[in-house]
Amino acid sequence: MNIQVLIDEEKLQKRIKELGDQISKEYEGKEIIVICVLRGAAYFAVDLTKNIRSDKLLIEFMQVSSYGNNKETTGNLKIVKDLDIDIENKNVIIVEDIIDSGITMVNLKKYLLEKNPQSLKVCTLLDKKERRKVEIEADYVGFDIPNEFILGYGLDYEGHYRNLPYIGYNKE
Ligand code: IMP
Ligand code: MG
Repeated sequence: MNIQVLIDEEKLQKRIKELGDQISKEYEGKEIIVICVLRGAAYFAVDLTKNIRSDKLLIEFMQVSSYGNNKETTGNLKIVKDLDIDIENKNVIIVEDIIDSGITMVNLKKYLLEKNPQSLKVCTLLDKKERRKVEIEADYVGFDIPNEFILGYGLDYEGHYRNLPYIGYNKE
């Protein structure tokens, strides 16, 4: 595959630090539950939480899918791994790798809101706004990106390329 760099490691880490600083300020003194959406957001959630200054932060993991094994969105949320903790009255931030059609995030937000958190925000590393099929806006966005199939730093093509330390796209 001919992979072109879209966001290099330095730019990526600089922006993640900015997001961490912003979240640190906005949640000062509050308990934060970060929900990392596996598997794509794993790299981002680790680096982001290292940049949030808080001694009341929990990192939790969920795995959901609305994609299957191809590039089409099916529209329904399959919960592969659910939360292990109760989020009622908690301040929750969903951490996602990318919002594309928006269908996954709309469904996930709906699911988590039923658990009555005190607050629920969305932090996505990448936002492909051009591709939206449903209305959803993230509260924190790392980078707006063009309509390309993206790889690296957690994002995969058939399971591969997640381990690239930068964000790239397939230039074929
Ligand atoms: P949505 O429901 O269409 O917003 O899809 C979101 C999910 O699709 C993300 O969490 C990714 O796992 C996957 N996805 C969407 N676009 C890309 C891409 O360009 N590269 C890799 N995965 C993607
Ligand atoms: Mg994902």
